[in-house]
Amino acid sequence: GEGGGRADGQSRLTDSVDIAAAALKAGKLVLLPTETVYGLAADASDATAVAAIFEAKGRPRFNPLIAHVPDAMAAESIAVFGEAARKLAEAFWPGPLTLVAPVRDRGAVCDLARAGLDSVAVRAPGHAKARAILSAFGGAVVAPSANRSGRPSPTTFADAVEETGAFAAAAVDGGPCAVGVESTVVSVLDGKVALLRPGAVTRAEIEALVGPLSDSGEGHRSPGRLTLHYAPDAPVRIEAEAARPGEILLGFGPDVGDVRWSLSPTGDLREAAANVFRLLREADREHPAGIAVAPIPLTGLGEAINDRLRRAAGFVG
Ligand code: TXA
Ligand code: MG
Repeated sequence: GEGGGRADGQSRLTDSVDIAAAALKAGKLVLLPTETVYGLAADASDATAVAAIFEAKGRPRFNPLIAHVPDAMAAESIAVFGEAARKLAEAFWPGPLTLVAPVRDRGAVCDLARAGLDSVAVRAPGHAKARAILSAFGGAVVAPSANRSGRPSPTTFADAVEETGAFAAAAVDGGPCAVGVESTVVSVLDGKVALLRPGAVTRAEIEALVGPLSDSGEGHRSPGRLTLHYAPDAPVRIEAEAARPGEILLGFGPDVGDVRWSLSPTGDLREAAANVFRLLREADREHPAGIAVAPIPLTGLGEAINDRLRRAAGFVG
């Protein structure tokens, strides 16, 4: 259909950066690889195209999206950066960090994409193909994770196509996502720096640069963070020491016996982050009575992994 809607149930599977950029210019949706998770992308300035993203994901409209840009210069044409934002962008871009700052150019990222807020989320992704598509397109691209709302984020091309490929006019295969959990979301508003969503860049890495983070009080929480999120169909039980009857156990670290798949046999948090969504999906395909996940330490990247697992298990953030 027109205006970024469903492409007659057919994704155009393509490695062509130019085809993807042309589809975005035409107001269509594109499956886009990033280093964190696959995104479902649209021209950020095109409200009709952005509406098609919400439709494809089955997503509540109040949830604002991240505008993806090639670099900090492009970000500063859209958002107002203070000293902390500049430091963070310089240290971690291109890469898995999103900054929420006051909006400067309301037309570049339309009201629907910002959910009507006076702030805007911007990120310069590190994946080579994402960067090439952004350069070829020449504007900001909004891209939520390419899963249907509430489900685990896709970290492989096949999983992305299975989730929302039917809604995309082009789908670009960028291989498995190296990071595997979404970007860290940090707000830089009113002179305060706050962590809204733990992610690939750790709290410690951010604090080393800008000092202690402010408390992200209720009001400053990432508005889009539903309680049951990242969830497979089977119920998820976390901090499990062993599998109960009918459950599949996902392990971490040295094997404890009835582990089916391991997030990381050596207890490596980077490896676990890269595997977590893929293994939740893998386990779910067997329709188990439940998916049990071994305890993961809360340090470093473990904060983001535990955050996603708690939400998959239905706990309030
Ligand atoms: O790694 C990622 O960030 C992936 C890849 C595709 O780039 N994208 C992603 O987008 O995770 P999404 O839409 O699934 O998550 C965006 C998060 C949500 O938690 C949303 O609430 C928050 O960013 N966010 C966006 N704009 C915001 C704003 N103005 N204020 C506060 N939070 C905002
Ligand atoms: Mg998401």
